[in-house]
Amino acid sequence: MNKEESPEKSTKSQVVVQVSPNGPLYLKGKVTLIDQHGNKSETSDLTAFCRCGSSHKKPFCDGTHNYIEFKD
Ligand code: FES
Repeated sequence: MNKEESPEKSTKSQVVVQVSPNGPLYLKGKVTLIDQHGNKSETSDLTAFCRCGSSHKKPFCDGTHNYIEFKD
């Protein structure tokens, strides 16, 4: 096992979650996403998750919150 594969290294990776006012939940950093069917995929460096419940691409934000005038 090299240094990049060690558990110590993986715990230093940082993922930041930011709540956007009246908008999505931004996840900054790559993570493994497991969907409702158990399928795994890797996120990109920036992912927006729907917080308003109206996205047509759940769990991702598709901008619909702007049209429905979602408010916190
Ligand atoms: S937060 Fe953007 S579509 Fe729901």
